[in-house]
Amino acid sequence: MLSPKFALYIHIPFCISKCSYCDFCSFVPSKKQIEDYICALKEEIKVAGERAGGRLVTSVYIGGGTPSVLPDGAIAEIMECAREHFIILNACCTTIEANPNSFTREKAYEYMLAGCSRLSLGMQSHSPKILKILNRVHDFKDCKNAIENALHYNIKDINIDVMLGVPEQTMRDVKETLKKVVELPVTHISAYGLICEPNTPLTRAIEKRELALPTDELAVDMYDYAVEFLDKHGFKRYEISNFAKAGFQSEHNLNYWNRGAYLGLGLGAHSFLDGIHWQNTENFKEYIKNPSECQKDIEHETIKTAKEETIMLALRTTMGLNIEEYNRLFNADFLNEYKSVISLLLENGLVEIKDNYLRVRNPYISNAIISEFF
Ligand SMILES: C[S@@+](CC[C@H](N)C(=O)[O-])C[C@H]1O[C@@H](n2cnc3c(N)ncnc32)[C@H](O)[C@@H]1O
Ligand code: SF4
Repeated sequence: MLSPKFALYIHIPFCISKCSYCDFCSFVPSKKQIEDYICALKEEIKVAGERAGGRLVTSVYIGGGTPSVLPDGAIAEIMECAREHFIILNACCTTIEANPNSFTREKAYEYMLAGCSRLSLGMQSHSPKILKILNRVHDFKDCKNAIENALHYNIKDINIDVMLGVPEQTMRDVKETLKKVVELPVTHISAYGLICEPNTPLTRAIEKRELALPTDELAVDMYDYAVEFLDKHGFKRYEISNFAKAGFQSEHNLNYWNRGAYLGLGLGAHSFLDGIHWQNTENFKEYIKNPSECQKDIEHETIKTAKEETIMLALRTTMGLNIEEYNRLFNADFLNEYKSVISLLLENGLVEIKDNYLRVRNPYISNAIISEFF
């Protein structure tokens, strides 16, 4: 729920090539675009630091895009600027995202010196066939090398992203990928169900029937298998798509789900601070021109939106919604407020109430259950 935490998100919108399914704010840059971006980002950090007024940063996440495509020294430069303008303690958990084939030994050294304590690698699959469909430009060996590079410099908290429900993916592919992942010395696994984003090459290929998605039944089986298999290997699910070894839940993501404050810096980055949501422009030229005055979709939360967001985010987690905390925060009576929907969900065995928490029983249908509250 409401938390005194304050997270920084720094967006690097560049990639070596564009994956077939991805509609994230990222593109393949020119050298000049990289230079202009670093300059603008540092300008935004400086102004944002003055505006944020001396808050203590509790986690940093450098995401993308692919931060590791920046030239050597750039992440160190950006982090140095962030430290100059924000209070970031050495113990603050700092995550950096990387592609397996751009996380070299040199990068690991630079990121360790820059204060990165956590690495998130997009592996997606062990299968060359699936990697090709996703247009990923690395293989499993790259992933192992990247992990070795991180460990060499004592970056031991490592997440691996995998994808489920990809066209042509079989249960065998999923089993093989998860088996390989749990053999790696990693602490956290994110297993995302494919979202078919409109206007991506992958979605177009599916629409043209050049590729076939797994059936809904198979996609559910893949997810259920992942939950059971990962649990058996010590990775406990704590959110719909996130699994961690004991003590390694992502602090940064937990802050989002707890509705803690976060400031997003960089192209297209989202923020939530002092009850206001906004997003930076996704237009590169506009951002470069005026990086600290490019906010759009500024929305002040109301009691109604704050309540809805609290319920939506909490029901994504395995812990669920803390009813007592909700009542305290909103001076409300949750069980009475949502009496009819809760009775219906309880009668159908879709949620449970235990120790003052309301939880979704089957995470695969969380979104459908959450929508019942609105
Ligand atoms: C923004 S990417 C950052 C990591 C890095 N760029 C990479 O892809 O390796 C974060 C993760 O989101 C997931 N992702 C991106 N687009 C997705 C989609 N359409 N459906 C499901 N997962 C997606 C991928 O697993 C990816 O690793
Ligand atoms: S590397 Fe990551 S951010 Fe870049 S296109 Fe692929 S999924 Fe998207």
